[in-house]
Amino acid sequence: MRMSVIGCGYLGAVHAAAMASIGHDVIGIDVDAQKVAALASGTAPFFEPELGELLQEGLASGRLRFSTEMSDAAGAAIHFIAVGTPQIPGGHSADLRFVDAAVAALLPHLSPGDVVAGKSTVPVGTAERLGSVVADTGATLVWNPEFLREGWAVHDTISPDRLVVGVPSGADGERATAALHEAYRPAVEAGTPFLVTDLATAELVKGAANAFLATKISFINAMAEIAEAAGADVALLADALGHDTRIGRRYLGSGIGFGGGCLPKDIRAFAARAEELGRGEAVGFLREVDSINLRRRDRAVQLVVDALGGLVFGRRIAVLGAAFKPFSDDIRDSPALDVAVRLRGLGADVIVTDPAALDNAAAAHPQLGYATERDDALRDADAVVIVTEWDLYRREMTPEHAGSLVAGRVIVDGRNCLDAAAWRAAGWTYHGMGRR
Ligand code: UGA
Repeated sequence: MRMSVIGCGYLGAVHAAAMASIGHDVIGIDVDAQKVAALASGTAPFFEPELGELLQEGLASGRLRFSTEMSDAAGAAIHFIAVGTPQIPGGHSADLRFVDAAVAALLPHLSPGDVVAGKSTVPVGTAERLGSVVADTGATLVWNPEFLREGWAVHDTISPDRLVVGVPSGADGERATAALHEAYRPAVEAGTPFLVTDLATAELVKGAANAFLATKISFINAMAEIAEAAGADVALLADALGHDTRIGRRYLGSGIGFGGGCLPKDIRAFAARAEELGRGEAVGFLREVDSINLRRRDRAVQLVVDALGGLVFGRRIAVLGAAFKPFSDDIRDSPALDVAVRLRGLGADVIVTDPAALDNAAAAHPQLGYATERDDALRDADAVVIVTEWDLYRREMTPEHAGSLVAGRVIVDGRNCLDAAAWRAAGWTYHGMGRR
């Protein structure tokens, strides 16, 4: 099928390359000429495992192209909208200006029978509003939310755990459903559930999924607060809870909490939209989820201060990690960088290291010190803080080796990812989050 993908960020670039890899003829369109040039030369403009190879294969096959011209979308049977919906400046709602602009720019290039498939995360009601605009061209708008995780984006796009398509009722909706079914045929044939809903439900599925994941993380972090007060160990608690298959261990990783370009802004936009609908009370708990999450960053800073005897001023602190999670160079609302910035604000000499996100971090926070190599960050540090659980810190750094580099064997494990007993046995003072 011929397809266009409007917006080539973390979501769109991967979607375009993945669709080409399963045999479709894809044009990716973005207003950012630099990004388009990188993609067109087979270079991923951000860190995402497997994306570079997929781009190169797609470009070589002739089935994948990139452009800054919206007119190049003309002739495609499906137009995926994959632009960002950030938090609005000065408020909690989603900023829909990029989605609105993408649809407006696409309108003159639509033909009757085309399908416009929204993938961006939007407040419920957006699809119905845009659908009526699109209908004037004879095209049909559907909503097809995306559930990919950064760092696993290629896998999640090619082998999703479910496909959700919200369509309008009637013959147009049926035709659009058939088009989306065809677009995702390899995944559907492999057994991926293909769920067809109305527009509003499809939009809600996405918001609800991220709200649930955020709630699960904050639940275990709330338990960490209790464990701290009670002298219990939240990591053991999570293991024990996780064996209950009704609960499950995933997203019970305690520590400094969630960040990134999705969960924090999505729960806020979800709550803001619920308020508009007169149902703010129904998701009032999301405010607590947000507060618990942000409190963990305060707690991590406090642990470092306490570990250094109450004062970090002038002390050298190695901060291991800057990305909001491993396998990503994304620093949007990164809890890791937030902790680093706060320690710097208290007068510490902070040296941040990260295998992927260092350039992004340095551009956003030039006041921090940076080391490309982990060991250079560790050298002469008075304390070490792990804030992103890269294997480079979690698995490949032994307490003995790190101990030979630092000035003081003090470690704060902001992701509860280390073997506390092994670090203590090597003479370190180990502080986890919500751990004895
Ligand atoms: C999230 C969702 O997981 C995807 O399904 C969704 O498609 C995406 O948002 C989106 O809306 O586009 P992502 O932001 O890539 O994906 O990251 P996650 O892997 O979900 O992690 C989010 C944050 O939660 C990270 O900061 C991570 O460190 C933290 N986290 C995750 C925990 O603190 N504990 C856990 O147990 C799991």
